[in-house]
Amino acid sequence: MSQSRNPIIVALDVPHLESALALLEQLAPVVGAFKVGKELFVAAGPDIVRRIRDTGAAVFLDLKFHDIPNTVAKAVEAAMRLDVQMLTIHTSGGLAMMQAAQKSAEEAALRTGKTQPLVLGVTVLTSFNTNDLAEVGVSHDVGEQVERLASLAAKAGLGGLVCSPLEITRLRQILPAHVQLVTPGIRPADSKADDQKRTLTPKEAMTAGASWLVIGRPICAAPNPRAAAEAILASL
Ligand code: C5P
Repeated sequence: MSQSRNPIIVALDVPHLESALALLEQLAPVVGAFKVGKELFVAAGPDIVRRIRDTGAAVFLDLKFHDIPNTVAKAVEAAMRLDVQMLTIHTSGGLAMMQAAQKSAEEAALRTGKTQPLVLGVTVLTSFNTNDLAEVGVSHDVGEQVERLASLAAKAGLGGLVCSPLEITRLRQILPAHVQLVTPGIRPADSKADDQKRTLTPKEAMTAGASWLVIGRPICAAPNPRAAAEAILASL
């Protein structure tokens, strides 16, 4: 996907195909991509991906794969058959798993002639603090662990990372410039934080170095989702 594009990825955090389709119809003309996560994918199945692709919009399949390298490689291949443009894997799955995922994406793209999807690494979940890390045997603080996993993802050749808004500046210092940063936790100045604790505005996140903005409730729960998306785009 080119850099001169609409950076808004709408998180379709809805429980049914029907509610996703209603949002899709309104928003497809004004946003860059739609994120399908576990809830919607389990409820609606792969058909939701096809329905999004039918509108011409890109799909970010956020299933956060984490398994043995062979299994993740096969899952990436299956995602490519669905024609997704971005997908997530857990960097804590290790170097070999990340390399297998990236290689699978590259080989499938060569074989099918499709554009290679962006394989994105998830580092430390934002629900984790340093105590939670210690409980699972990781003795670094969250910031150090994010940097360690981000560097490992770059070494594995991944094209991007998912990161919190407050990690963008630091990751831009340590990562090669071509690595794309996809950032949730985005809140326009006039909107509620909901359960997000560390947020930036869309403009601030892009200025800090985000490549893509994942935005859910500020668009989907707005009285007029399309107008909300257009206002965010205009603010950039
Ligand atoms: O509604 P909101 O804009 O907060 O939605 C953000 C989306 O990004 C949700 O799908 C959420 O699961 C996802 N996300 C996040 N924080 C992370 C990783 C993903 O908010 N660290």
